[in-house]
Amino acid sequence: MQTFRAPVSLLAATTLVTGALVAGQAPPPPDGLDYQMFRTTIQPMFVAKREGLVRCVQCHGRGAGTGGLLILPPAAGTTTWSDEQSRKNFDAVRRLVVPGNPEASRLLMHPLARSAGGDPFHGGGKHWDSKQHPEWQALARWVNTGTAATTTAAASLDFDAYRTTVEPVFLKERDGPAGRVSCAGCHSGIATRLRLAAPPERGSWSMEQSTQNFAAASQLVVAGKPLESRLLVHPLDAAAGGDPSHSGGKFWKSQDDPEWRALAAWVSAATPATGAAAPAARALDYEFFKARIQPMFTAKRTGLVRCTQCHTRGTGSGFALQPLAQGATSWTEEQSRKNFESATRLVAPGDPTASRLLMHPLARTAGGDPFHGGGKHWIAQSDAEWQTLAAWVRGATLTAR
Ligand code: HEC
Ligand code: HEC
Ligand code: HEC
Repeated sequence: MQTFRAPVSLLAATTLVTGALVAGQAPPPPDGLDYQMFRTTIQPMFVAKREGLVRCVQCHGRGAGTGGLLILPPAAGTTTWSDEQSRKNFDAVRRLVVPGNPEASRLLMHPLARSAGGDPFHGGGKHWDSKQHPEWQALARWVNTGTAATTTAAASLDFDAYRTTVEPVFLKERDGPAGRVSCAGCHSGIATRLRLAAPPERGSWSMEQSTQNFAAASQLVVAGKPLESRLLVHPLDAAAGGDPSHSGGKFWKSQDDPEWRALAAWVSAATPATGAAAPAARALDYEFFKARIQPMFTAKRTGLVRCTQCHTRGTGSGFALQPLAQGATSWTEEQSRKNFESATRLVAPGDPTASRLLMHPLARTAGGDPFHGGGKHWIAQSDAEWQTLAAWVRGATLTAR
């Protein structure tokens, strides 16, 4: 926590510098986000008046100093936008959104109160005090109309190599435009896809935290292709092949930087997906299931009952777990095999969002099924457990070969 406090105010300053560049980028690729919903439900929020606060367009209509969000205000004397203006706003706004992932979307997290999980600071104040706010909920529904870019990288990236060579890079304190801070110092507190666990007091992250960090980082990697991987090009100097801007600063001056080379080696070792089509589904890995997935079924989540409590006796559903022996906290080998069989029947290999095991206990606002007799255990697809399940469905193994 200590490490994060200092750069917060400066974070704002760096956003100011980079905003103009972001606005000049090419339109984003198709992502399925619903334009009509944007026009009728989302866009009006930018002119809505909230008590004690200024309208979004009042600041974001001018551009200068307000980061990468530039919204065209309605023409003078009118309160609505033409189709052409709306399309432009749509393109500007979707750059600050990660389709299918409200929690990684700056548009939703920047003006959200910090106490509700929002970013630490927004120059325009906090407009929503909780995710339950109807506007925030509508924004989340809209973001979920988009298709999450399915990265297949996690399946072929080596977890052990990640832990020993990549994570130290995330933890190392460095000087940047925002003062002395590590990647994790910033990236544990702000909404991006690279959502890392808070840096530990000393030493390295726990295995569970590393699994979660691995899932987050893997989303930003194209297997076998360092220069197409956002994780590597975002903090890399533009002159050295990096992209135009990273709010946190450019930390690598060249591709010869030892850190950059370490990340590149990790990415290069992974097998690229062949062709543009989705790679053939890989077999579901039993060892990964046993080590990473099965423990979720006995885990206690606040306000909810453990999966085992209902799914051991038979709920009239197709998901049946073996009963734990008296006093035991985990299953025998034979029982684990049976659990594996039951779980795999509810999974579509290679396709997390088509898998009932993942979608049934997932919140509806995050794209989950409308109802689960056992409640909603994951509020977002960015949830660490959900990400681990998704990695398994895509074929992850404990140590990628
Ligand atoms: C009083 C002026 C003001 C108002 C009103 C305001 N903002 Fe901002 N906003 C800023 C400033 C200044 C920044 C840049 C500094 C920062 O990151 O906080 C910013 C940054 C942002 C960013 C980050 C942009 C980036 O490139 O990362 C988002 C997203 C955003 N605002 C959304 C909104 C939304 C949505 C509203 C209305 C609900 C709103 N803002 C209202 C001043 C304002
Ligand atoms: C001072 C804070 C800060 C530091 C330090 C920082 N970043 Fe960032 N980073 C940001 C912000 C803010 C964004 C979102 C805006 C943007 O994309 O520039 C971001 C975005 C990113 C993204 C894109 C995430 C996405 O969802 O597309 C990647 C990748 C990234 N950073 C990697 C790193 C790495 C690797 C390091 C360490 C070498 C690092 N960052 C250090 C603030 C920081
Ligand atoms: C309070 C009891 C309860 C808990 C706890 C519970 N469930 Fe369920 N679950 C049910 C009931 C009842 C059904 C059947 C009705 C339905 O489809 O929602 C069900 C159905 C399911 C199904 C659909 C099975 C099928 O045949 O289509 C899946 C998958 C599932 N649960 C997974 C889980 C997971 C994973 C957990 C823990 C994260 C969990 N459940 C926790 C009661 C529970």
